[in-house]
Amino acid sequence: MRSHYSAEVNEKLIDQVVEISGWVHKRRDHGGVIFLDIRDRTGLVQLVFEPENKAVFDQADHVRHEYVIQAKGIVKPRPSGQENPNLASGKIEIIGNELNIINTAKTIPFQIDEHQQVGEDIRLKYRYIDLRREELQKKLIKRAEISRYIRRYLDDHGFLDIETPFLTKATPEGARDYLVPSRNHHGNFYALPQSPQLFKQLLMVSGFDRYYQIVKCFRDEDLRADRQPEFTQVDIEASFVDEKIIMDTVENMIRGLFKTCINVDFADSFPILNYAEAMEKYGSDKPDLRIPLQFVNIKETVKNEEFKVFSTPANDEKSRVIALKLPKGNEKLTRKMIDEYTKFVSIYGARGLAYIKVNDIAKGKEGLQSPIVKNLSEKALQEIIAKTAAENGDMIFFGAGKANVVNDAMGALRVKLGHDLNLFTTKWAPLWVVDFPMFEEVDGRYHALHHPFTSPKENNPEALLADPQNTLSRAYDMVINGYEVGGGSIRIHDQKMQSAVFKLLGISEQEANEKFGFLLDALQYGAPSHGGIAFGLDRLAMLITGTTNIRDVIAFPKTQTASCLMTEAPSNVDSTQLTELGIKLTTKEDKPSEVKSGEQAAI
Ligand code: AMO
Repeated sequence: MRSHYSAEVNEKLIDQVVEISGWVHKRRDHGGVIFLDIRDRTGLVQLVFEPENKAVFDQADHVRHEYVIQAKGIVKPRPSGQENPNLASGKIEIIGNELNIINTAKTIPFQIDEHQQVGEDIRLKYRYIDLRREELQKKLIKRAEISRYIRRYLDDHGFLDIETPFLTKATPEGARDYLVPSRNHHGNFYALPQSPQLFKQLLMVSGFDRYYQIVKCFRDEDLRADRQPEFTQVDIEASFVDEKIIMDTVENMIRGLFKTCINVDFADSFPILNYAEAMEKYGSDKPDLRIPLQFVNIKETVKNEEFKVFSTPANDEKSRVIALKLPKGNEKLTRKMIDEYTKFVSIYGARGLAYIKVNDIAKGKEGLQSPIVKNLSEKALQEIIAKTAAENGDMIFFGAGKANVVNDAMGALRVKLGHDLNLFTTKWAPLWVVDFPMFEEVDGRYHALHHPFTSPKENNPEALLADPQNTLSRAYDMVINGYEVGGGSIRIHDQKMQSAVFKLLGISEQEANEKFGFLLDALQYGAPSHGGIAFGLDRLAMLITGTTNIRDVIAFPKTQTASCLMTEAPSNVDSTQLTELGIKLTTKEDKPSEVKSGEQAAI
């Protein structure tokens, strides 16, 4: 059916007979000669049918765009001046002498090359056609290369690929579960795993020692450009390890991956930033270190100022007041842009965006231009200039308020300025973030910053119970260019410690036994010390293929409302199916995520 892929047909095959199979990408008639560009996953090759060979020529005359054909012919050099340097097969053409039309095609809903003019909802409805596009094909081929590399690396390092169940019990990773009703046990539900976390830990208890899996995970959470409801993890666990062993092993894997896939050289060892420092300087636990801007703490400077917008948060433990200097900001930003950034930070809850234009430091207050200058003392202004090391021409933005709002708003502004003004100092910035707090307090309750199976730095359960707030965890996240690509930790292997953590999370002994009894049991039957990590394969693929849209690296992705526009999932089901499952719908069939034809889907 095929002797060569398109891209393999080149001048080395001149005068040889080749057989190709593929789709008709373009068809042109020139002076009685029919040219067909045949497409397969490697690219295009030009087939030529001449009228002298009448039977085949007449057949070729019937061929239309996207027909599936198979053809035999002789490879010839293209006439001089007609070469196409953009194609691997651009120096040759195939003079066709046999043609088999495998299948016809209706007029496709959009031309493959003209996807930009077509809404993404239509392209997702006909995803199998959109996937014919070279750009998407290249990305999925690269994704296959990524998983191939990772598998090889982990196989070679003694990790065993072991599958874990999809129909299971909820694993609390912080998102809502997708539930599957049980036919045999009416009223009971399986949960699709948010990650194989507990199973991989149990495999360590069984003695498998080094495990990995490239596995689908399911989370019913708000979707973003780098999140999908079902996504793929590279899930890793090992016994008798500490942070260094895991971090070194996987850092080496990621370094090799980027080198192999896109010939990028990462530094010999990734910088390690602790959580507190990351939040202090960048307002984020996944800082994009390609951007050189940093927060400067000015709490002390403005504590006694009359300007309440600054002094109130400066005197509140849970608030922050920070300055963010944009070098040469005066010439880079127009008034309109500042207004847009003010609107932008309001999305994150900031009430406004104060700024100072540093025109001429020598002139003191006079040389500073801003609506807030009059509210600040000369001393405070001088200190701000000194602390931010501002120079004439710079712009200083301010964030003041509750720490989480300042971090979110000013952290996002920092990244936006970096992108909008192209402030990147390097193309790649991988790093580790470590020393996360064990817990964060929300509305008077503790929540695990990672997951409840993460080991604290404190070995004694009593000491943890006495001071949970100041206890750090043995967790580590890998961040590349502002994306959290992986997260993991050394786990708790002591039942008493695990029970203490459940207690702090407000999980009663009874609930802990109901939900995690199997884990608490297992920890008492000879559990080794262990730890691991999981990478988001989709996010790695995004970075490696240079896209900011996770849907570009997933063959059949979901929309932002978690629907599949092609299959129209989720959909209603037959009433007999519901009866079998013992399910009665209480509300009228409302299908918020279903997209009726003609409606624009939120993507
Ligand atoms: P975590 O929840 O950090 O850790 O997930 C690991 C990595 O998976 C990716 N990821 C996602 N990618 C796309 N869409 C999503 N909705 C999504 N959610 C997470 C991220 C993230 O870093 N069990 C732990 C791992 C461990 O401790 O070993 C876990 O799941 O890149």
